[in-house]
Amino acid sequence: MKIVTIIGARPQIIKAAALSRAIKKNFKNYIKEVIVHTGQHYDTTMSQVFIDELGIPEPDYNLNIGSASHGVQTAGMIKGIEEILLKEKPDYLVLYGDTNSTLAGAIAASKIHVPIVHIEAGLRSFNKSMPEEINRIMCDHASTLLFSPTKTGFNNLVKEGFNPDNVKPFTADNPGIFHCGDVMYDNSLYFKKIAEDKSPVLKDNNLENKRFILSTIHRDNNTDNPERLENIFSALYEIAEESGKDIVLPLHPRTSKILDKNLSQDLYDKVINSKFIKLIPPVSFLDMIMLESNCELVITDSGGVQKEAFFFKKPVIILRSETEWIEIVDEGCGIITDADKNKIKESYYHFIENSGNLNFPGIFGDGKAAEFICKTMLDNK
Ligand code: UD1
Ligand code: UDP
Repeated sequence: MKIVTIIGARPQIIKAAALSRAIKKNFKNYIKEVIVHTGQHYDTTMSQVFIDELGIPEPDYNLNIGSASHGVQTAGMIKGIEEILLKEKPDYLVLYGDTNSTLAGAIAASKIHVPIVHIEAGLRSFNKSMPEEINRIMCDHASTLLFSPTKTGFNNLVKEGFNPDNVKPFTADNPGIFHCGDVMYDNSLYFKKIAEDKSPVLKDNNLENKRFILSTIHRDNNTDNPERLENIFSALYEIAEESGKDIVLPLHPRTSKILDKNLSQDLYDKVINSKFIKLIPPVSFLDMIMLESNCELVITDSGGVQKEAFFFKKPVIILRSETEWIEIVDEGCGIITDADKNKIKESYYHFIENSGNLNFPGIFGDGKAAEFICKTMLDNK
């Protein structure tokens, strides 16, 4: 069986490591994987670092699309992916998550009848102003095999009309939906020990044996809205000053490029000169695992970082008005604060007082989601 896998944005490169590893370990005589990098993310720290570190094969193709408006970026990818699919004639196109690279793959493949496998299917924010919500809905509804990491995701698909009783052969008109756990959980389990052995991030940032907070911010509705960005950073600044704890912020390039423009001069100066706030470049995945597993608490608007906080049993403050990973909130381990400064601070103090009472049940599978996905793809051939 031949599959073409699309990667493009940072989290997809990381997710793809789980499937490539499962293929190499258990299915190398049965599945040939061709990897296409759209080039949506291209800085070394946003792309190549993961390919080098996580054992993903070098991409067979790179479309080098780069940054552009949604339309220009997605159109370039559709054209490039179509050409490759016509040449490679794969049995499946494998797509991850909800980025513009995902949407482009879904459009290109569905029009020329290449069956689509969507990994991370069924997730919904129910907020169609997010580009990701449109991308994931459109991809799910063009897919043949849909793998949902959570029960909630699976149930969302059923509510949208997917029939859980469909039997093979699965097609785009008779799709198969599966609740199989999360490939990101597979990765966190697999790379934890490797990260402990290899990552210098705690030492390099003087964080060993320290209580610190980890934060990431990159959603366009936070970075591109000065009022929201100001609220978030003033909460972070006040938490750092009041607690005397370091807050480590590996900054997405979208955020670092806009910080001086969208924060008031006063707050920008305070943040830059704070002895507690550490603005650092994006870190590698092994470094990220060390930061997540050793911090006291996570403050983020990232989807993946919310989940990894949960995997490593850390409470998370969610800088959005909703989340696709609602189980984390239902378990009391995450609080949705949006960009509300007071809510962010209150949630911080809530977790500091109550962290001993939190439970983090195993709701993201058994660490073998990628194996299940490989078996199911082969089984449908
Ligand atoms: C994209 C995804 C988002 C995902 C995020 C993961 C879409 C619509 N959004 O958002 O769902 O959570 O990736 O990180 O697909 N830039 C660089 N260097 C890079 C990449 C980006 O400088 O290597 C800067 C550029 O100024 C660019 C901006 O970041 O315009 C945004 O990049 P883009 O890929 O369009 O969206 P993300 O915000 O990264
Ligand atoms: N990540 C990383 N380095 C960083 C920030 C994030 O390796 O500096 C990893 C993180 O551990 C997770 C993924 O990137 O696996 C999440 O990606 P991101 O937050 O960019 O996107 P989202 O998950 O919100 O789509």
